[in-house]
Amino acid sequence: MGQPVPFMDLLGQVTALRAEIDTAIARTLDSGWYVLGREVAAFEAEFADYVAARGGGPVTCVGVNSGTDALVLALWACDIGPGDEVITVAHSAVATAAAIALRGATPVFVDIDPRTYTLDPAQLAAGITPRTKAVIPVHLYGHPADLAPILTIAQEAGLRVIEDCAQAHGATYAGQHVGTFGDLGCFSFYPTKNLGALGDGGAVIGRDARLMARVRLHREYGWTPQARYVSQSQGMNSRLDELQAAILRVKLMHLDAWNARRRAIAASYAAHLPAGITLPVELPGCTHVYHLYVGRVARRDEFRARLQEAGIGTAIHYPVPIHRQPGYARFGTGPLPVTEQAAAEIVSLPMHPFLSQAQVEAVIAAAQSALVPA
Ligand SMILES: Cc1ncc(COP(=O)(O)O)c(C=O)c1O
Repeated sequence: MGQPVPFMDLLGQVTALRAEIDTAIARTLDSGWYVLGREVAAFEAEFADYVAARGGGPVTCVGVNSGTDALVLALWACDIGPGDEVITVAHSAVATAAAIALRGATPVFVDIDPRTYTLDPAQLAAGITPRTKAVIPVHLYGHPADLAPILTIAQEAGLRVIEDCAQAHGATYAGQHVGTFGDLGCFSFYPTKNLGALGDGGAVIGRDARLMARVRLHREYGWTPQARYVSQSQGMNSRLDELQAAILRVKLMHLDAWNARRRAIAASYAAHLPAGITLPVELPGCTHVYHLYVGRVARRDEFRARLQEAGIGTAIHYPVPIHRQPGYARFGTGPLPVTEQAAAEIVSLPMHPFLSQAQVEAVIAAAQSALVPA
């Protein structure tokens, strides 16, 4: 067996930034304030500037407890609830649909583009009914959904657009950062994400002051800074804590360099992986940030077993499309052939900015021998 390559390794990132993280933690501990304070406010401003920097601008940011909560709060701000339909994809983390269902609304799943695994705009048009209130395109794996036609269709039908950017921090479409195209953009800072905390975290960004004020209000029980303990509307608790915000501020400074490293690894994979693997694509006008590096292979289980024998970790994102999961069967979606075929063939190879060149080569070598007929 060559060099082992675990599918994920979060320790490398923490080790590389240990001194900066320790300083941020010490500063927060010494502040005596641990939830929704100066660190959160500073991170919100810095992340808004980052996302707006490529011409999407000016946006504001509200830090919340998770990416799932970001989606719930975005839907809530748009007044989406029982009786409403929200179109999205079944080929995503279940969180996208969970957020819709948590609002009491109905997720309506449409099929994906087989090249990018993101929402197929033609299917969006076909899925609209008089009850449709919004669409959630997911920038899955780090590749932007095809936003131009999605925005046009949504505008014509009077739909809100909420971008699920949980896997796409820093990705661009037509040169502009994702998250700045729709009414609201939702991010997750789960530790494995391109920008990850050391616990849970999330954010909503947007331009519309009224919508963002509603996100802020619902984040903490409907309280305003002028009147704590008096709920102006019903809300929830989805506060971001100071420690996570302080750590995210450190990591944000490295996000572009890390995304560049992910892209360099993807370029090595694309140059050397064997022809039996259908590689991910980057469509013209898009910047893929390779949150995950997902290919397709026939006889996937055999391929994964051989990589496992060689010490190479792989994963499947995602093995069961959401409409096929027992918890979501009640939404009664019909067959989604492109989604279902993808779920049967996809395989995620190791991808994170702290993979060494030797590890990248080990993955390539193992994939080459795994595809040689036995
Ligand atoms: C596409 C997508 N949407 C939403 C989420 C939810 O984020 P979180 O785990 O922070 O709630 C995730 C992360 O798991 C995700 O990958």
